[in-house]
Amino acid sequence: MSKPGILVPRPMRDVVMRGLEKRFALYKTFESEDPDRAIAEAADHVRGAAILGQKVDVAFLDKLPNLEIVANFGVGYDNVDAHDCSARGIMVTNTPDVLTDEVADTALGLLIMTVRELSAAERWVRGGSWAAKGAFPLTKTTLIGRKLGILGLGRIGKAIARRAEAFGLEIHYHGRSRQAGVAYTYHDTLSGLAQTCDTLMLVAPGGEQTHHMVDATILKALGPDGILINIGRGSVVNELDLIEALSSGTIHAAGLDVFEHEPNVPQALLDLENAVVLPHVGSASVHTRDAMGQLVVGNLVSWFDTGRAITPVSETPQKE
Ligand code: GLV
Repeated sequence: MSKPGILVPRPMRDVVMRGLEKRFALYKTFESEDPDRAIAEAADHVRGAAILGQKVDVAFLDKLPNLEIVANFGVGYDNVDAHDCSARGIMVTNTPDVLTDEVADTALGLLIMTVRELSAAERWVRGGSWAAKGAFPLTKTTLIGRKLGILGLGRIGKAIARRAEAFGLEIHYHGRSRQAGVAYTYHDTLSGLAQTCDTLMLVAPGGEQTHHMVDATILKALGPDGILINIGRGSVVNELDLIEALSSGTIHAAGLDVFEHEPNVPQALLDLENAVVLPHVGSASVHTRDAMGQLVVGNLVSWFDTGRAITPVSETPQKE
C-alpha cells in the first residue's frame, strides 16, 4: 500500500521531519521555488498536514480535497480555523500537556523579571553603571503580597497558579465559567478580576473571542501598581492601549512573551523601560519543542494506523 501523503508547508524540527519521513510520503513544499504550485501538484496525494504557525483557513482547505487531519505544532491553534475543519470532517490536533510546565516556568520567570526589573538590572551591570553610578535603584514593586488574577485557568493557567501559590500569592481567576473543585476566587468579569488584583496573568488563547479583551478599561481597573503579564497570545491585548497605559503610569509595568504582530514589536513598546519583552519563548527549550514535535508525529501516525488522534482539539472531538 502506498504511504499516506503529508504536506509540510514550512520546515519543522528534525524530530518531526525524521519521524514523518519514516512513515509517510512528505510534500515539503517550502523547498519549491513556487510553493503554491507545489501544493497544487501535491494536492490529490495529501491526506494530512503538519502545520507550524501558518494559516489553515477555507482557502487552504479548498486546495486539499483529500485532507483528513491537520496536526498543529503548538498548543494554541488560532492559526487553524477548527470550525471549518470540523464542518468538512477534518480532524485537528494540537500539542497540549507536553509544554505545560515549561510555559508555566517561563511565566513565573517573566513575572519576577517584570516586578523586580531584572532585565534592567542586568543591563545596569553589563553597561558598566554598577561601577560608574553605584547600586541599581531599588524596585518600586515586589512580588510579596501580590494578588494574582489569571485569565484562562486551563492546564497552563493551573500550573502557573500552583507555582504562584508556592510564592505566597493570592490567586483569583476569570474564565467562561466557575470551575468545580477549584479553590481560587472566581470573578465573572475580567474587569472585576482586574479591579481586585494588582497582577494580571494572561494565559488565554487567541482568536475572535479573546481579541483585545485587555484594553484601556481593563488596564485602568488594574491600576497604577498593576503588573500585566502576557504568556498566551498577543491578540488578547490592545497593544496601543497598553503602550499608552505604560507611558502614562496607568499601570506600573508589563512583561510580554507574545505580541500582536510577531515578530514585529512596536518601537514605542521597545522604548519603554517598564516593558519586559521576550521573543515568544514560553515553550522554547530543546526538550519541550522535541516533545511537541513527537506529539505532532504521534498524532499523524495514530490517525493513519488506528483512525484515532492522540490530542484532538475540542472542535473536532474523536468519534467513538
Ligand atoms: C505556543 O505559543 C503554543 O501555542 O504552543
